[in-house]
Amino acid sequence: MDRSKQKSAQIRTLPFETRILHPQMLHFAQIDSTNSYLLRQHVHPPGTVVMADYQTHGKGRLGRSWLSKESESLLFSIYLTENLHHYPLYAFTFLAAVAVHDGLLHCIPNSALEVKWPNDVLLNGKKVCGILVQSRMLSANETRVVIGIGININQPASFFQNDLRFGTSLFAYRGEPLERRAVLDPVLQAIDRQLLVLREQGAAPILEKWKRYCHSLGKSVAVDDGQQIQRGIFLGLAPDGGLILQTANGKNIFYAADVSLVKEEPECS
Ligand code: BTN
Repeated sequence: MDRSKQKSAQIRTLPFETRILHPQMLHFAQIDSTNSYLLRQHVHPPGTVVMADYQTHGKGRLGRSWLSKESESLLFSIYLTENLHHYPLYAFTFLAAVAVHDGLLHCIPNSALEVKWPNDVLLNGKKVCGILVQSRMLSANETRVVIGIGININQPASFFQNDLRFGTSLFAYRGEPLERRAVLDPVLQAIDRQLLVLREQGAAPILEKWKRYCHSLGKSVAVDDGQQIQRGIFLGLAPDGGLILQTANGKNIFYAADVSLVKEEPECS
């Protein structure tokens, strides 16, 4: 990585009043990964947002990489310290998904947005955002939590081919490019709102909202845990955020898996 680029963070004051987020965010031209940066840095106040135009080692779920050309995506992470006896870690993933959903709806009203278990936001049935929550214990009572969010903004439709055919961007959806900041600000505002809900009311209202936004809940899905693909009905969420699948052989709970909707066969008369 070019360390000189990494050092050149600009500080920007968020253009709205924050309750939980720190009002000043850091913007790097280039960094290895905004998540990795916040997991190893000990000097930032809780609520700090770190954004990058480009990540040399962007991290995705299940040990995958997260690749994006310079300035085409919104790549940012939020640093929190939390007492996780109050909130389970998965609550932050659902919180981020709900907030990204609401923030994007503000930018593209009436659009077909939904959340997908465990950590995606879909636009027109295609992935527009991925979320990676990571944590590190600071003490017996305190944990460093980093919520990492990648939103596809200005990739052209032609970018989403072959392996990437299940993805989309706001540009591919609208047919016009968008200023990244015009998306970042409403999304951060929605995150700040949901963090306040979490602090004041706990995770329950966020999970309820997530369930309303999850169109595959109650439907036939295929769950691929890397070893086998199981089909069944997505019944609901386990108390620890796992996906409960009702199969012909009973209920199974999944924690790390990819889920896809199964088209219902029309019934023959
Ligand atoms: C996934 O869907 O696999 C999760 C992708 C998360 C990507 C974001 S981009 C900003 C932050 N920094 C990272 O290295 N990863 C997250």
